[in-house]
This record gives sequence, structure tokens and C-alpha cells, in this order.
Amino acid sequence: MAATGSTAAGESAFYVTTPIYYVNDAPHLGHAYTTVAGDVLTRWHRQRGEKVWYLTGTDEHGQKIMRTADANGVTPQQWCDRLVEEAWKPLWSHLSIANDDFIRTTEPRHTERVQEFVQDLYDKGEIYRGGYEGPYCVGCEEYKSPGDLLEGDLCPVHKRQVEWLKEENYFFRLSDYGPRLLEFYESHPDFVQPASARNEVLQFVRQGLQDLSISRSTFDWGIPIPWDPKHVIYVWIDALLNYATAVGYGSDQAKFDATWPANVHLVGKDILRFHAVIWPAMLMANGLPLPGRVFANGWLMVGGEKMSKSNLTGISPRQLTEHFGVDAYRYYFLRAIPFGQDGSFSWEDFSARYTSELANDFGNLASRVAAMVGKYFDGALPELAAAGPAEQAVADGLAEAATRADTLIGDNLDFAGGIAAIFDFVKQVNGYLTEQAPWKVAKDESPQGRARLATILYTAAESLRAIAVLLNPVMPATCAKLWASLGAEPHLGPLADQRVGDAARWGQLPAGAQVTKGEILFPRLEDPKS
Ligand code: MSP
Repeated sequence: MAATGSTAAGESAFYVTTPIYYVNDAPHLGHAYTTVAGDVLTRWHRQRGEKVWYLTGTDEHGQKIMRTADANGVTPQQWCDRLVEEAWKPLWSHLSIANDDFIRTTEPRHTERVQEFVQDLYDKGEIYRGGYEGPYCVGCEEYKSPGDLLEGDLCPVHKRQVEWLKEENYFFRLSDYGPRLLEFYESHPDFVQPASARNEVLQFVRQGLQDLSISRSTFDWGIPIPWDPKHVIYVWIDALLNYATAVGYGSDQAKFDATWPANVHLVGKDILRFHAVIWPAMLMANGLPLPGRVFANGWLMVGGEKMSKSNLTGISPRQLTEHFGVDAYRYYFLRAIPFGQDGSFSWEDFSARYTSELANDFGNLASRVAAMVGKYFDGALPELAAAGPAEQAVADGLAEAATRADTLIGDNLDFAGGIAAIFDFVKQVNGYLTEQAPWKVAKDESPQGRARLATILYTAAESLRAIAVLLNPVMPATCAKLWASLGAEPHLGPLADQRVGDAARWGQLPAGAQVTKGEILFPRLEDPKS
């Protein structure tokens, strides 16, 4: 497994990437799924106290973009500029994505370095001139092997007819790299995850690799081949290199050394081979260190098919955030679908989880505790006066939840499992309150009764303090509200500075903290039809 970074100066950052998205259309749920996952992963590592770098961006060259721009009567560059500024970047900020950089493949910091990289491979004899013909899917921007096609001529991903392409191209000697790649997978068993993805890659490489056509001469929307500018560089070679150019490859050695290689490349399973086969081979050819992990997430499905704009099933994330809110959106897909597997989205399932897990289990807990501290102690958090076994059980439950969540989310990218561990603790605290019934204890005004009431409410508030820390990577706006309502900041500092590894240390919230009944964390859902 890739080393998880450290704060020591000179150590390289925990570097995570998303695929760079084609800007032929606006983003849909499938794109946002990976980007939110990367955001949660990187926020988690930031809260481990690590140096982190989170990269996303857009893939702007190739035939698909060119055709879309043509159809809309604008130049490809105009089209990309418009989509990036009006659709992609605003969506990421709407979804609270805290990326450190956003790379566009039409930027000179990228195009110039790509040319140098390809020139270098050419000079090393890794690239030669040759001819190729075969079925090509413009949706995938990929030659297909005839055996992969459905009904003779349909792309298995897009279910649309492939085109026959015949070209004089430049080729990368990918076929030479099979044995070295297999050796690498063998010695790095966690390089491709999950296991199903690893098996697919092993099987593919064991069959033997063909050389890869890396240039196109039938259109010009791409980066020119430096020694033969009638050709443009194949969009996938151009695109993969974003992970290097964005962190200073060939231009800022200090930044590159402090960041490279990526610890995790998040990808959809349809683009696994590019990342787990072609990309490491390109890096081997150039002598660069290889990434730590390629993690392939599954597809969001609609009606049994991959959700996609080309299939007219692409749903805009805003249709859901308008109804459920941004944090619930971030929560839902990671909680409901095991990362790495396909999953279907359903409005009913989302509503059910919103109501039972977010509004009832979590939101109500926060508002009940704040209301009781207000009512019985004038909003000043009381002391943990007389803790007993029931309180110890809560502290133990927290320790277990925090450890499990840290391993599952931070190391294994098992977001569903990690979030479930935190919510098991939320349920435990609810159960504790039901058993202890502080509203009954409040009727006992003796010193012992007051001490018992103080203990129960302290325990519940301190549990919420830890829950805010642990859920902050998933639901930052909600947890910020909770942090404010617990009056934690003046004593403990900003929420984002709280360490996940320290979350379970009991007794951090001091007596006297000003607890206020803040906004409702998860308001009742409106009827979507009204
Ligand atoms: N531009 C390339 C990636 C280059 S990375 C060097 C590309 N772009 S894409 O916009 O078509 O897709 C980007 C990502 O979105 C892929 O990982 C793809 O799997 C993902 N998704 C697109 N539709 C999806 C779903 N319905 N569900 C989950 N992810 C899906 O490929």
C-alpha cells in the first residue's frame, strides 16, 4: 500500500487525483461521484495532519470535443472555456470540493510539457512510425478490438456504432512492457483495487499487449507532435500526463519532488486499463516513479445502464442538492454504494436514508442535546460529574468507531463501511440517551440528581464533539454548524484543524462551553412534487 504521508518537511504529499473530465457536456452524478469521493479522502488525510494535494481538471482535446464544438457553432477552445467556467468549476465549488488545483489540458503548462515528454520517448526509441486500422469509438476515444464489440459493430460502453479508422500513426512500444508490468503488479498487490479490477487488468496484460497508436492526423484539435506537427498527440496520452504536468513535471522540480507520484488515482472502471496499463508503461519508459494505487469505482446506473449524457440518462447533481442539500448529497452516494461496485440511484432510497439516518439519528440527536443543555443548564456545558459504566461504554464505542473509520476511509477507501462505523456510534449515543432518560433525571433536583443529569448531557455533548470531527470530511457544512452549536471553537480551535486520530480522546470539550441551539441540521424534506 502507498505510504500515507507525514507532516515532516521534505516528505511527499498525499497526492490524490480524479480523472480529468471531458467537457463535451455538463457534469452529471457519475462525474460528481468520483470527485466527492476524492474530496472526502483528501479531507480525511488533511485531518490526519498530513500534507495533501488534491487534483482535478478537464480533458479538452480530441474528436469528441471537436465535434461537439462544431455542432454548436463555436471553436473547440470557446466551447471548453464556456463549459469549464459555467458548468464544471461552479459545480465543484457548489459541492464543497476542496481541490488544490484544477488543470485544463489546453493550458500551456500542460501542452508544452506533454510535447517534451513525447519527444523524450521518441528520442529514446520508444516511439516509431507505422500504420493501423480498426474499429474506433469516439465516445471512448479508443480503438476497440473486434472481439469486444456487441452485435458486430456496437461499442460495449456506448452501445453505438463504432467507426472504421485507418491511419499512418506514431506508435508507442507498449507491447514491450507486458512482462515488466506483470512483475510490478506481482510485487505491488495493492496497485490496482478493488480485487475485481486487479483481476481484469492481470488477465488483459497476460493476453499480450499491442503497441499503442499515439497520434492522429485526420483532425487537428490536439497537441501537435513536436517533430511532425501534421499529427496531434492521441488524447489519452495527452490526458494521462496531466497528473504529472499539474504538479510541476519539467517545470518546477521542487514541487514535483514534494508531490510525485500520486498515492491514489481514482478512476471509473471503464478507464481502468488506461490507468493501470498504459500509464505505468509510459512512466516506466520515461523512468518516472509509479503511482501508489489505482482505485476503480463502479458506475452509477439508471435502469440497468451506466448513467451517461450520451445515453440521455445523465442527472445533474443540482437536481438532487436543491432537494436534499449538498451535505446529504455528499453523504448519500458514499454511504449507499460500496466503493468499487456499481449502484443504482433511487429517489426513494435517498429520501429514506435522509429521514432515518441524517434527520432522525444524527440531526435530532444534535438538537435534543443542545435543547437540554439550554433548558437545564442555561446553555453552559456542565461537568462530567459522576461517570460510570454507561459512560465508559460510550467512550469505548467512540474509540472503536474512530479507529475503524480511520482504517476504512483513510486506508481502504471503504467509505460506506467507515461512515457506517461512525453512524453505529451515533446510534449508540441515541440508545444511551433513551436508557438514561435525562428528561426524567431532570425531575430529581437533589445534588445527586443534578450530577447525574450533568454527566449524561456532558457525555452526549462530548460524543457530538467527536462526531463533528469524524463526519467533517463527509459533511463539512453540517459539521461546522454542529461545531458552532457546541461552542467548541473558542476552546478547541477550528474544526478543520481537529485530528481524526485524536477524535476519540475523551474529555476535550470543557465544562462551561456555550452550547446553543443552532439551525436544524437536516430539515424535513419538502414534497418533491409541490
Ligand atoms: N477524459 C477521460 C478521463 C481522462 S483521465 C486521464 C474520461 N472522461 S469522462 O468525462 O468520460 O469520464 C470521467 C469519469 O467519469 C470516468 O472515470 C468515468 O468512469 C466516470 N463516469 C462517467 N459516468 C459514470 C457513471 N454513470 N458512474 C460513475 N462514474 C462514471 O473518461
